[in-house]
Parts: sequence; C-alpha cells; structure tokens
Amino acid sequence: MESLQHAIDDARSRYVAANPLSQAADERAERHLPGGNTRSVLHFHPFPLTIVGGDGAELTDLDGHRYVDFVGEYSAALFGHSNEVIKAAIHEALDSGVAIGAPTPYERELAGLLCNRYPSIDRIRFCNSGTEANLMALSAALAVTGRSKVLAFNDAYHGGVIKFLGGGCRLNIPFDFVLAHYNDIDGTAELLDEMGGEFAAVIVEPILGAGGNIQGNRRFLQMLRQKTVESGALLIFDEVKTARLGPGGIQAMVGIHADLTTMGKFIGGGLPTGAFGGSERIMEHFNPKQAGALAHAGTFNNNVCSMAAGCAAMREIYTPDRAKEFLDWSEAFRLSLNEMFASRDVPMYANGLGSMIAIHFNRKPTKRPSDITAGCQSLRPLLHMELLLDGMLIVGRGDLFLSLPMNDSHLSAARYSLEKFADRYKPLIEQVLAA
Ligand SMILES: Cc1ncc(COP(=O)(O)O)c(C=O)c1O
Repeated sequence: MESLQHAIDDARSRYVAANPLSQAADERAERHLPGGNTRSVLHFHPFPLTIVGGDGAELTDLDGHRYVDFVGEYSAALFGHSNEVIKAAIHEALDSGVAIGAPTPYERELAGLLCNRYPSIDRIRFCNSGTEANLMALSAALAVTGRSKVLAFNDAYHGGVIKFLGGGCRLNIPFDFVLAHYNDIDGTAELLDEMGGEFAAVIVEPILGAGGNIQGNRRFLQMLRQKTVESGALLIFDEVKTARLGPGGIQAMVGIHADLTTMGKFIGGGLPTGAFGGSERIMEHFNPKQAGALAHAGTFNNNVCSMAAGCAAMREIYTPDRAKEFLDWSEAFRLSLNEMFASRDVPMYANGLGSMIAIHFNRKPTKRPSDITAGCQSLRPLLHMELLLDGMLIVGRGDLFLSLPMNDSHLSAARYSLEKFADRYKPLIEQVLAA
C-alpha cells in the first residue's frame, strides 16, 4: 500500500507542475519578506498560491486557475469578493474623505446595528482587529477587577499574541494566563472553585475555531457563566468567528450573556476592523464624559471605509433573516458531508457548525482537542493538496468557510471533491489512523 509521505509528495509534485508562476512569485518575494510571507498562517509547503483576482465566491491565481474560495479569509470573507452593495458603500465613503480624526455617522450606525443584534452587548467600541479586541477586553478586565490572572483554554486562538494552540506561543503577551482544557466541565469547574477569585477574566471561544471548529458544550459554557458570576471574574466570549452564526451569534443560540464579547472578521464587510462590547456597567468605564475613565485609543478605530462597509453589510445584506437562512443552508451542507462520509464508512467527519467547518479524520465528532490525534494531523497536507488540485481552496488544517455568494453548485463541487478524496484514500487513511 502507498505510504502517506509518498502520497503527499506525489500530490505536491503535481501542484508544483501546475503552478510555475506562483512558485516564481514566492521565490521573488523572499527578497523583501521573510520566507516571502507577511502572515504566517498563509504559508504552506511547498509554496502558497499567489491570488490575483476574486469575484463572488471564487478566486483566480497567477497561473490562471479558478478556485471556489472555501478559505473565505478565515471567515472574514462572508460577503465574498465583489458585493455591489459593499463596493458602493466604500466608494461613497471614499468620496467624502478618509483618515478623518473625528466621529462620523458611520461608527454610530454600525454600533447600533451590532448592539441591536447581539443580546449581551449594550455598548460597543471599535478597534482594528480581533486580536486588538481581545487585548482590549482582557486589559479592561484587569483594570476593572484589579486582578491579574486570566483563565484561557488549551488550543484556543484569540489572536497572534494570545494563542494557545498546542500549548503556548513565544510571542504571547506576558499576561498571567492559566490554561484549562476546552469542554472539560468538571476539571474547569474545580479550578474555578479553587482559584476563581484570582481571575480577572475567563476568555473562551464558544466554538473552538483554529483548534478544530469544536462546538462548546452548552453545559460547559453555562458552567463558565455560573462560576464567573460567583467569583467576580468577567466572562469574555470571543465571537470573532462565531458572531456570523445565526442572527445573534452563539450567545443568542445558547442564551448566555457574557460580560464582554469580542468581534471582528466579517463585521466590517470584509475590511479590517474589530470590536469589543458588553454590559453597560462594564463599558461605562470607557465613557470619556466620566472622570477617571479608561482611555481607549486607536487612530483607525473608526476608519470610515470599514465602518461604512460594515453598515451596508449588516444593514442591507446580513439581516437577521438572511443570517438564519444562511445558517440552515450551510448546516444542511455540513450534515450532508457527514452522511456521505458515513455511507462510505471512511473515518472523516465535518466538525463545526453551519458555515464554520473543519474536516477531521475520525468517524465521530471531535468534542475535545485531545480527540485530534497525530495521525489525524498528518493527513491534513494530503487533503489540502488534493482539494487545491481539484479547484477547492481550503485552509491547510482542513477548515472550510462558506460565504454568502456561494450557491448549491459550489457546495456540490466541494462535496464531490471530498467524495473522490474519501474513495481514493480510504485504505491509506485507515492505515495511518491505525498506526
Ligand atoms: C476566535 C478568534 N479570535 C481572534 C482572532 C484574531 O482576529 P484578527 O486576525 O482579526 O486579529 C481570530 C482570528 O482568526 C479568531 O479566530
């Protein structure tokens, strides 16, 4: 039987042969960018594709191949690449001046749209990214509670300097983080009973995104809410990715009001932005009309293009009804993938919820990061390469993000690619997982 490494090498050599212009562009880029790269997650072996164009849910690379874009800018490209409503809003904003050092109508409207949508957000403030939103939420928690420890979870991702994938990261901000295991209800409850009074905050992704699109168990999230109320730590829901799921994100689905929620990705209509918001009681600390308020700075917090695009996106496109419809449509697709895998008895599973999917090599849902074995991880490059070669742009670790301009034929094409992959490699997958 062919070995996994042989299969990966074979797929990579077909990829190299098909993409000479992307390869040359990557090599040239090394002159000025370390490894040709300015965003680590976009690098993969042997080299990433250079993308030169996009419209709707599709992208074109330098060698002229067309792809269905399931990378979806890691969930930020919810609106696709050429939405006319968003383009018009950006043009209008450009025509009335950019880099304006004053409040504009845009951030006020977007604040209203988001506060009305997300049940736990009474007041909100904007910043430039999801990372910055989490930095502000955590710093605010430290300032408000006067405590210094933060409880976070192994394999969580809250931004480039707050990540715990595989443990920790040398670039992490030097906060006093304590780590627990995601979805471990008893272990985390015990830790919070012991140390709860020392925590300024508990920060959690309601679906563990980069860690494998693992749904947060409802009882786990409820336990976090209850224990943080008891101990006075602030509960921070990082909904940077999950806010797109349904009309009000996961908080609306599970009926849990976190003290602070962070967002980013799609809320700027595809342009850079981030936000943190929460109860009036906590957000009032940022009220500059009050003496001694916390000062929240940022030249581009209210940059007009992002704010204008966000307003158009949330007001006219991603209405609550559209969000609900999109969740149902994308969840039906996810479930159909699992039926397809089960009918072939192949150890593959589409984890996640709705438009946030991760393909795992397992017959069952992945409920904890520890369910992801080394064998499962070693199969990812093969899946990635084969889907790229088939015109499906997916994330290297196996994530697929659906976007609004996708239609049934985009989804059928992806299902067919996965079906072919499962049929071709089932014996190899079983062999790798058994080793
Ligand atoms: C859950 C979560 N939080 C925070 C971030 C960081 O957002 P940004 O990349 O905009 O800084 C991400 C990015 O992927 C994320 O997935």
